[in-house]
Amino acid sequence: MSQGLAEVFPPLGLRITCGPLVLRGITDELIMPLVEVARRGVHNQPPELTPLANDWTTVPAPMLAINYAKWAWNNRLMFSADSWILALAVEYDGELVGVQEGKGEKFRANRSISTGSWLGRAAHGRGIGTLMRQAYCTFAIDHLGAQEMLSEAFVDNPASTRVSEKVGYRRTGSRPAQRAGAEVGEAMYRLVPDDLVRPPYPLEVEGLEPLLRFLGLDGSTGNTAEVA
Ligand SMILES: CC(C)(COP(=O)(O)OP(=O)(O)OC[C@H]1O[C@@H](n2cnc3c(N)ncnc32)[C@H](O)[C@@H]1OP(=O)(O)O)[C@@H](O)C(=O)NCCC(=O)NCCS
Repeated sequence: MSQGLAEVFPPLGLRITCGPLVLRGITDELIMPLVEVARRGVHNQPPELTPLANDWTTVPAPMLAINYAKWAWNNRLMFSADSWILALAVEYDGELVGVQEGKGEKFRANRSISTGSWLGRAAHGRGIGTLMRQAYCTFAIDHLGAQEMLSEAFVDNPASTRVSEKVGYRRTGSRPAQRAGAEVGEAMYRLVPDDLVRPPYPLEVEGLEPLLRFLGLDGSTGNTAEVA
């Protein structure tokens, strides 16, 4: 059976099921539904208190769609074994609710992934943010061989910092960051495999082998092709 575009971009064929939660590659068909989730709002804060380091949600609705599609396509174009963003759409009980992503730079050498996530406002506060981070970290540690998961959040984002703590991350410090032209503290968190608080459901993973090949984690050189 044809795998469609997952043959040339294996993240599109990745599907991780964890109880009521599914994490899956952001295909073109998912871009506008994700835009609709984001247009309904990702947070309640005024711009000067946004929880997002680069608040892509506060632009006019047509720009949000254009920017989001470009971001998704750019991730595919720029994805290489040495530098990647593995962004996965999140479904909960069959409903599309947000995105969980991880960034790997020289991952084969340092085994470190930095995560980021968002949920549509209606999905906040129901434990979904915790479950999707648990599922992503478990996948990264068990199947990609990650030895370290990193997360940063503004110090006034208790939902994100609390999720990090619940998943087993430890706070490693804080640093100054900029938000809407003002300085704000950013808390830094680190998770190591032994501290992972695993999700209450087992993980089922589809589409793993092509992804491992693409990332060069199967002993091959991986996707190192430059765009001509
Ligand atoms: C961050 C985010 C993904 C978390 O997802 P979520 O589904 O809301 O998280 P959960 O429900 O699993 O857990 C949230 C925890 O934070 C706590 N929390 C939330 N708001 C809080 C507040 N104002 N004060 C104290 N604790 C708070 C909740 O009580 C819960 O902890 P508990 O289970 O111990 O009670 C989601 O809130 C979101 O998308 N926010 C906007 C975007 C964002 O901030 N992204 C991260 C940028 S670093």
